Amino acid sequence: MKKIKELKVEELPPGRILGIESSCDETAAAVVENGRIVLSSLVASQVELHAQFGGVFPEVASRQHIRTIYTIVSETLKRAHVDLGEIDAIAVTRGPGLPGSLVVGLNTAKGLVLGSGLPIIGVNHLEAHVYSAWVDLATTDPANLSPEPSFPLLALIVSGGHTELVLMRGHLQYERLGATLDDAAGEAFDKVARLIGLSYPGGPSIEKASESGNPRAFHFPRAWLEDTWNFSFSGLKTAVLREVRRMQEQTLPLPIADLAASFQQAVVDVLVVKTLKAAEAMEAHEILVAGGVSANRALRQAFLAQEAFPVHIPPLSLCTDNAAMIAAAGYFRYAYGHRDGLDMDVLPNWPLYEV
Ligand code: KG4
Ligand code: ZN
Repeated sequence: MKKIKELKVEELPPGRILGIESSCDETAAAVVENGRIVLSSLVASQVELHAQFGGVFPEVASRQHIRTIYTIVSETLKRAHVDLGEIDAIAVTRGPGLPGSLVVGLNTAKGLVLGSGLPIIGVNHLEAHVYSAWVDLATTDPANLSPEPSFPLLALIVSGGHTELVLMRGHLQYERLGATLDDAAGEAFDKVARLIGLSYPGGPSIEKASESGNPRAFHFPRAWLEDTWNFSFSGLKTAVLREVRRMQEQTLPLPIADLAASFQQAVVDVLVVKTLKAAEAMEAHEILVAGGVSANRALRQAFLAQEAFPVHIPPLSLCTDNAAMIAAAGYFRYAYGHRDGLDMDVLPNWPLYEV
């Protein structure tokens, strides 16, 4: 891990960043000032397009990004009442993500950079999820901003592709403590939803079904993986599958709400307990939860109910993929002097720790 000299807040240069995101099935653009104030942010979701396939169809995703991205970027600039001449840098997701989807965003950014001469900054999608905690949607007045997360902080990143526990001792410094050994938390939600006949994307469907279910109806296994900060969700998924098969063989109706609630509770228990333990062991000041699964109400409530650590969880619109978080992460890279060249390529498997 690189050691970066921490800058004081007053040493950070001002920066208005255009962020572009296209790593999976959302085409998004945003204009963000100083990593915190959103002038505009637009997300075009492809969820309905992929629902018929029960998951993201990569070829369909990249074609749809091509159709949408120009309109999204120009409309975002228009709504921010700025043109490219009033932007300081363009930040774009470089990875991880679907190669064909990433290329659309990166090439769009390169085109804008060629025309405008602006600096281009490649952003890691996972670091962007972390930096969504710096974005303050409540104000555009710099004097009224909420306090920033403070270091050292323990970040739990829970998305469709990743589940990671990361220690940050300062800006742009990521120490990997642990990660999932198999399915990501969001992936587990999506797969279990399909198993019990709920629609894609699975996270919101399971959350909705859980509302009328009993989280203690089934005792599904929790993989604690003691002495490590790693996670595993495939055993849990298999346990749900076994239960579903057993009931189907006996031609019993599936208690979908109870299955959903019991599964969700098992995921929440493991994520919360391990994150709190890690925060304590690392003497973190704060906990930060980010990524699509952090939109889950049961998970949010469990983190907010504990009193051991202050917790930052972004508002719902910043949990799932968006470009405000790309612009926020891009701003901190910009402020710390990071610049990329036009020869930059996408990095579909880019680990956070090689940033
Ligand atoms: O961060 P994200 O939008 O995309 C990736 O970077 O992967 O996360 C998408 C994932 C999906 O697996 C989706 O099912 C999950 O986040 N998700 C949720 C909820 N909303 C989205 N999982 C649980 N509860 C939710 N409310
Ligand atoms: Zn994401």
